[in-house]
Amino acid sequence: MANCKLALLRALADGRSHSSQELRDRLLLDAVMLEQSVQELRKLDLAIQGSADGNLTLLEPLELLDDDEIISGLDHSARTWLSRLEVHPLIDSTNSYLLTQAGMDWSSGTVCLAEMQQIGRGRQGRSWLSPFGASLALSLLWRFKAPSAAVGLSLATGIAVARVLRQVGVAGVGLKWPNDVLCQGRKLGGILLESGNSPGGFYVVAGIGLNVALPRTVATAIDQPWIDLREILGEECVSRNRLAALLISELLTSFALFQENGFSEELAVAWQHFDVVAGRRVTLKLPNNVIPGIARGVDGSGALLLETVDGQWVPYLGGEISLRVDQT
Ligand code: ATP
Ligand code: BTN
Repeated sequence: MANCKLALLRALADGRSHSSQELRDRLLLDAVMLEQSVQELRKLDLAIQGSADGNLTLLEPLELLDDDEIISGLDHSARTWLSRLEVHPLIDSTNSYLLTQAGMDWSSGTVCLAEMQQIGRGRQGRSWLSPFGASLALSLLWRFKAPSAAVGLSLATGIAVARVLRQVGVAGVGLKWPNDVLCQGRKLGGILLESGNSPGGFYVVAGIGLNVALPRTVATAIDQPWIDLREILGEECVSRNRLAALLISELLTSFALFQENGFSEELAVAWQHFDVVAGRRVTLKLPNNVIPGIARGVDGSGALLLETVDGQWVPYLGGEISLRVDQT
């Protein structure tokens, strides 16, 4: 993102009215450059209102991400696990970025955040909407000895996210196996784990998207019920920088622990607490099959236990599986 666009956005982020003259003097822009920057910001769905007398106002004030503020908000023990933090204004996808950069031998504890993803990705080729400054789009890179050492990590990630949400005041946060973060039955966030191999060994990139305050106009593109923290917390809505610091702290601590213990008994118990499908009639959609049953929590590896029509409890472990709760 060009520097003058970002500088203009920083100047307008407070949501107050600024005269064109003040902005031009402050940012050392001529009238044409100022106008071009305004147009480019509008293309990112940022609502900038221009008045007849040349004043400019960003209609939804923004709290931009600030790496220093995030780092100073990390808890002490987590800080030792952070090896790199990058904050990008615009990126295709924080997951794609870390998957590519992992080959550079970046180590466990590398975190990438973005104000906006232009090609945010969900599971199985679906897309994830993350408009500018309106959500948290975060990815964490971690290296493991072998793929088997990361089994259940997706659930551990969900638990870390849910704990942070509870800490900032979200009541009734739930997890739908394997990766959906729900509140009031609507999607508040999503988790996408991807992996690869580089000369430095096997690695996982855990991507988390959380809705903070989605512009209503942009969110019409989401084709399922969704919710954001602004709707849940109202005036008490958490600062994005604080949320990022809490989330990174919890993730780093959880991943370090997971590296030692894998999907532990403690995590299986924590999952039960947030599990929104346990005991409910569900349908599992596999690539070539659809299986009805009753969800019975997870086993010791994080696999979903499905009680099938013949009464057996069958484990299903990730991959291209979607779970749908049956409507009664
Ligand atoms: P599954 O249960 O298999 O995970 P899903 O419908 O939740 O299925 P995902 O791949 O997990 O699919 O998530 C992508 C979907 O999430 C998109 O197809 C869209 O419906 C929805 N979505 C995209 N952006 C957002 C967002 N910012 N907030 C909430 N939901 C979103
Ligand atoms: C899902 O529910 O399918 C998962 C959505 C995951 C979205 C996050 S946002 C940060 C990271 N980068 C991506 O492109 N996707 C994940």
